[in-house]
Amino acid sequence: MTIRADIVRAHFHDHFGEWPLAVFRAPGRVTVIGDHTDYQGGLALSMALPMATWVAAGQRPAFSVRAGTSHDGSWVDTTAPQLREAGRTPPLSGWAGLLAGVWSVLPTAPGASVWVESDLPVGVGLSSSAAITLGLLAALTILGGQPIQLPALTRLAQRVENEFLGVPSGLLDQLSIAMAQPRSALLIDAAAQSARPVAFPYRDAGYRMWVIDTGSPRTLQAAGYRQRVQEAAAAAAALSLPSVGAASEGDVARLTDPLLARRARHIVTESARVRAAVDAAAHGHWAHVMALLNDSHASLAADYEVSSPRLDQTAARLRQLGVGARVTGAGFGGSLVAMGPAAQESGLLSSLTTLYEQEGWPAPLVRPILYPNGGLMQVGG
Ligand code: GLA
Repeated sequence: MTIRADIVRAHFHDHFGEWPLAVFRAPGRVTVIGDHTDYQGGLALSMALPMATWVAAGQRPAFSVRAGTSHDGSWVDTTAPQLREAGRTPPLSGWAGLLAGVWSVLPTAPGASVWVESDLPVGVGLSSSAAITLGLLAALTILGGQPIQLPALTRLAQRVENEFLGVPSGLLDQLSIAMAQPRSALLIDAAAQSARPVAFPYRDAGYRMWVIDTGSPRTLQAAGYRQRVQEAAAAAAALSLPSVGAASEGDVARLTDPLLARRARHIVTESARVRAAVDAAAHGHWAHVMALLNDSHASLAADYEVSSPRLDQTAARLRQLGVGARVTGAGFGGSLVAMGPAAQESGLLSSLTTLYEQEGWPAPLVRPILYPNGGLMQVGG
């Protein structure tokens, strides 16, 4: 972490000839269990990852904004009013679009120099967009001489996604990144818009978690996600409830439309699985947590239809090895999260390599997560 903060400070100095006034580290997140529940008042359990985004910012005169990222070499040379003007015609995309969204939600729009470094993979379901957004908002808040208030910051970051980038997401990503505590998982209650750390000491019990980037393309993701959000809202309306999270399994049985019934059943049963996983972890019942991950995958695949053939085949292979696995994040391709005995790691790697070779898919990227990381943090000034 220290090395990264130094690197981003050095890059900032190379580009702007001075040292930054604020440097923030915003980690990626992985949903352990509880996906597609947050926009319907349900529960989720997440962890911050060791991979993160570092944002360094300094002041500039006369509303001038210069912002670069080493991720793809994108560079923007503009002004705060121009960014706000671009924010008038969403949906926005790319580096300039993200900056326009951030500058549009800020109460005051300062001039700034910004440099971003990241080792968080983009577009694989680990919340790279929310991490950059929160890092930027935090750094610009400090530049403006204001204190950081995490609940307000998470809502501003959500507005960037919803109003400017055109993604009707809930608060899962933003809360996970902002509120995570080292060595704990985070239990998120979307109805209460709250999050609290819960013990998740899998490592002490000889278990390991992995995030597996299957390389399965997420082409349908944006449209599919919007459609699921609409279907879930239609299910809540059909039940005359404010959200599906407030429904019971009995309520779901009253839904006559089979598609809406499946969508609602996923949300209700997934929240119950989150509760069960927190309880099982508290009692050290890791085999039960793994079984819940598998049940969650089945529900996301059959009832919510956000899996893909490659995700399903990979999850099935992991189950055969005695490892629990589920699609994580929005789905429609992307990554799996898995949990199993740490001693299984080499077997898991060779078995997946064989499967992917047989299928002619590029090798999957398996990232071990030894323990949960901390959330958004100022790492330099
Ligand atoms: C994306 C969204 C989140 C959440 C997940 C699915 O990551 O940004 O709000 O809905 O998908 O759980």
